[in-house]
Amino acid sequence: MDNSGFQYIDGHLHCDGIPVTDIAEEHGTPCFIYSKSTLLNRLNSFRNAFSKHDPLICFSVKSLANLSILRLIDKEDCGFDIVSGGELYRVLQAGGAPGKTVFAGVGKTEEEIKFALKHQVHMFNVESESEMRLIAHAAAETGHTAAVAIRVNPDVDARTHEKTTTGKKENKFGIDPETALELAKETRSMPGVILKGLHMHLGSPIYDTQPYVDGLKKIIEFKKLLEHDGLIIDTLNIGGGYCMSYTGREVLSPQDYADAIGPILTEAGADLILEPGRHIAAPSGILLTKTIHTKETGSGKKFIIVDAAMNNLLRPTLYDAFHRIWPADSPTGMPEVIDPEDSDNMRNFDTERVDVVGPVCESGDCLAKDRRLPALKTGDLLSIYDAGAYGQTMSSNYNGRPKAPEVITNGGSFVLISKRESYKDLIAGEELTCI
Ligand SMILES: Cc1ncc(COP(=O)(O)O)c(C=O)c1O
Repeated sequence: MDNSGFQYIDGHLHCDGIPVTDIAEEHGTPCFIYSKSTLLNRLNSFRNAFSKHDPLICFSVKSLANLSILRLIDKEDCGFDIVSGGELYRVLQAGGAPGKTVFAGVGKTEEEIKFALKHQVHMFNVESESEMRLIAHAAAETGHTAAVAIRVNPDVDARTHEKTTTGKKENKFGIDPETALELAKETRSMPGVILKGLHMHLGSPIYDTQPYVDGLKKIIEFKKLLEHDGLIIDTLNIGGGYCMSYTGREVLSPQDYADAIGPILTEAGADLILEPGRHIAAPSGILLTKTIHTKETGSGKKFIIVDAAMNNLLRPTLYDAFHRIWPADSPTGMPEVIDPEDSDNMRNFDTERVDVVGPVCESGDCLAKDRRLPALKTGDLLSIYDAGAYGQTMSSNYNGRPKAPEVITNGGSFVLISKRESYKDLIAGEELTCI
């Protein structure tokens, strides 16, 4: 199972052996709860799968950015994938190594570039000609040297959600191979810039190895073209996007990816960088929420209104994403697989069809639509699974809602790693002015 740290014991959900109700009692709901054992197991199994290639694993900060978690990941000898000055600041505050940090993103500003140069990030993943020239200018002005990789857009369909596809030619990411070739040559006349690598990131989550194979082959073809021109590339960064299971059904493992692309990587003979986020972080966290009200319309439609909402977990609203939801107290435990097609797996469970919704004033604030769940009443706790990635990092204060706290297990105990925001936090930074 992907999220092995979360188990029902005697009908009560536990995280690394701790009843989640204990955490709710101390820190309230909604609350993100992370399983340290799951996080470390997934990081290590990912690393082991690719160990033959001795990769630099740059954990994608955008997926889960809590300082204590970044520190834990740094201690595991990993680097970071960042996309802003703010994320670099987080890495630095967590004690992470900028020398193992790679900086992607289509809109890096001069200020962000100078900040990253000052801290000597491992590599800039450059996404346009304009950006490359700005990096060259900033490097010259500050007397630093910038190691760069060109993010190539290989025009490969990752066959994922249209909003999370990033490697097709119509997407804003990366540089097409023809333009990239001219730009690579131009770097010769940029004294502060050293072209070291090529980068791709095709999208997320990718449930098939073929897009990686296709993308990597194109990148390697491009690498050969550059070498023909005397430009030697010593690093290949193949990005993130490695999947995990949102339903409990089996999906590709890290070993499947490694087996599919390993031979191509070996032949390429370059240093390898990987940027996993979701695969490691998503199954490591749940969003624990409480039923506030239940209601039934005249036509018999049932709503379970919970205290978590789209401001805590945006994915269902933004991408129509599916997350398993189940009561934290359930004498029968939880079905092994819960999927949108609602198959036989529910046979042994007494359920009714409901929409699980949050309090936000948007019809889109729906965490689960037409879902089979056991009968629920006010006060019942529900776990929203696989909320460790793109959960807290995408959260907002919309509708005047303070952000939820984050808790992680540690040994036989649990620790608070970010506090619940207060009403005061909601207005911090605002000036009350007569206008
Ligand atoms: C450049 C880059 N690398 C890595 C990732 C991480 O993707 P995932 O969390 O699916 O592994 C992203 C996600 O958007 C990304 O943009």
